[in-house]
Amino acid sequence: MQEATSVSDGHGPGPSTLKYARRIVLLQYEARLPPTSSAFVWPPGSILLRAQAWLDRDLFGENKVGSSRRYRTLFLRELCARLDAAVQVECELLRSQGVDEIEFPEVDAALLERYVEAMAGGSSRPVTTISSSTPDDEFTTHYWPCSGRSQAESDDDDDDLLDSYASVTIREEGSAISKGTTGLRTWEAGLRLAGHLVSEPSLVTSSGARVVELGSGAGFVGAVCAKLQVMSTAQVARTFMTDMPGQVITRINDTLATNGLDSPQSCVEVHELDWLEISAERQQSRQRDDLPMLNFLNRAKPSLVLAADVVYDPDLIGPLVESIRACLEAGTRECQALVASTIRNADTYGAFKASLSAHGLSASVVELRCPVVPIPGDQCIDMPDLRLFPSVHDSALHGRVELLCVRLE
Ligand SMILES: C[S@@+](CC[C@H](N)C(=O)[O-])C[C@H]1O[C@@H](n2cnc3c(N)ncnc32)[C@H](O)[C@@H]1O
Repeated sequence: MQEATSVSDGHGPGPSTLKYARRIVLLQYEARLPPTSSAFVWPPGSILLRAQAWLDRDLFGENKVGSSRRYRTLFLRELCARLDAAVQVECELLRSQGVDEIEFPEVDAALLERYVEAMAGGSSRPVTTISSSTPDDEFTTHYWPCSGRSQAESDDDDDDLLDSYASVTIREEGSAISKGTTGLRTWEAGLRLAGHLVSEPSLVTSSGARVVELGSGAGFVGAVCAKLQVMSTAQVARTFMTDMPGQVITRINDTLATNGLDSPQSCVEVHELDWLEISAERQQSRQRDDLPMLNFLNRAKPSLVLAADVVYDPDLIGPLVESIRACLEAGTRECQALVASTIRNADTYGAFKASLSAHGLSASVVELRCPVVPIPGDQCIDMPDLRLFPSVHDSALHGRVELLCVRLE
């Protein structure tokens, strides 16, 4: 590893390393990753110190979706503390080299001012808000690299750190169960499934791909899927996002509007699809043909079914598995379902797998792919890869995430 030298000696990290440092701070800030958690990848102090002059503009400049004041304060407290510690180290080094005090580095004044403002309860500077949001709503934005502009080209441009990235912004409720539903925040399995799709976009962008998502919740996976389709040259790829009627469907529509995916020409549709009703319709399919859920699935004719964090309630396992089977039966010959689950309770997950088998469905574990932010090749920097769609999920505490590929036997 190459240790960065002092601010004053002119041999510090190169522009692409500084840009990488700025980029990973921005990506994690926008994902609202808790800044004091061990999951937050902070650049070494010496690099952070050299990057600090850009950070106020990078993080709080125009057209940024505002974070909640609480998150902003926590983040700025940690950032300023890290910068202060780096300043102390640099000053010590300069003193030991007998350098004049006038050259000593300081924490950037704009960041300090921003921190004081956040603590005082507001900002005198404008922050972009999204229609229907309140100042304390928490919006997270997750980015991933997309083709079009190479990382090297983007590294030459000082202005836009994430020019070669695509993103989805999502409104998140703080607590796991909010307003009586689990569907108003993004769950770890959803983040991981979205990461898998971003790593293997052809799953959803191949020509004529038709993706039905079960239990879309706040809409992250489906919105990522639709963005991948919009960005690809694939013809007629479509995404159908589904969930229970009511507030979750409203939230999915809000998410699509926030991300510019709500135009009539958009490749994404939102549908009410209750697994209990699908199960009931399947029982009645011999007696009646006004079967809105099954008719919808026949019209959608999926080539891929997605579901994230839908295995948690033992009472719902039967209807869920019947719904997966109904999707596969209505789908194309190659249709498969990718089901990402956080295994919180081995018995519940075991019951799900047993139910798949009992319903004539095969299930195989797929290795979850995980996109990372590429580290610039021209510098040796002692930083771990930053996983995209970062979170504080700890598998040992909260459960391992597993991806199953389910097919008709
Ligand atoms: C834990 S959340 C997961 C949300 C999202 N997939 C994610 O990963 O962030 C479970 C989702 O399943 C939906 N759900 C629960 N029971 C359902 C049912 N009977 N029919 C359809 N969706 C249901 C909930 O509304 C919720 O959106």
